[in-house]
Amino acid sequence: MTPTDFPNTFLVKHPFVVDSLTHLRNKATELGKFRRHSDQICNFLFAEAIRGLDFKQVQIETPMEKMQSPKLADETVIIPVLRAGLAMLYGAMKLLPKSKIGFVGMQRDEETAIASEYYWKVPKITSQTVVIVTDPMLATGGSILHLLDHLKDVKAKTIRVVCVVAAPEGIENIHKHYPNVKIFTAAIDRELNSKKYILPGIGDYGDRYFGTE
Ligand code: PRP
Ligand code: URA
Repeated sequence: MTPTDFPNTFLVKHPFVVDSLTHLRNKATELGKFRRHSDQICNFLFAEAIRGLDFKQVQIETPMEKMQSPKLADETVIIPVLRAGLAMLYGAMKLLPKSKIGFVGMQRDEETAIASEYYWKVPKITSQTVVIVTDPMLATGGSILHLLDHLKDVKAKTIRVVCVVAAPEGIENIHKHYPNVKIFTAAIDRELNSKKYILPGIGDYGDRYFGTE
């Protein structure tokens, strides 16, 4: 995991991540291949994003003797931002099978790129909860900011955002309002275009992952 020029953002540069990102960016990559590389990249991103979670010591017995051994202790809530965030959910659930899952539906207006919420169902979050938000594309940051605003009054232990590609504008926007929220990404891209799509980007992630192009 590599620190970046942005104090809230970490780059995951594992060789499998770097390779899969090229396949995702390539517009010639067809649906099945896009999904495989998305699943692969998301596993690595998520594995990095859970670094630093707390452990508790548990008593176990190896075939040889008894011992105390560390076990992940934090209670986690994973929140995929619908729809594209769902692409990252199944891998995340495999890694943290006891996580509770929240669903937040956000849709950007095609003209203004302003996100509005159409669905919210999130489990109870307490000061013991680690919240991990999944959304492959962080563009203006509007969708994630809306979600963070909604969670403002519940004091989670920590909130992390996992995305595949982030734009500087979105990263800065989140840092300005929520400096403690950490972002884990495979790439920080150059800029947004006039329609607030990321350049060079991946295109519309949800459309490419779910085949709605
Ligand atoms: C996309 C993407 C993010 C959002 C990022 O969702 O999945 O949720 O845009 O943009 P922002 O940082 O500027 O808010 P979209 O609204 O296209 O919906 P979808 O996931 O249903 O395709
Ligand atoms: N949402 C996407 O899916 N892609 C972008 O480039 C920006 C927002």
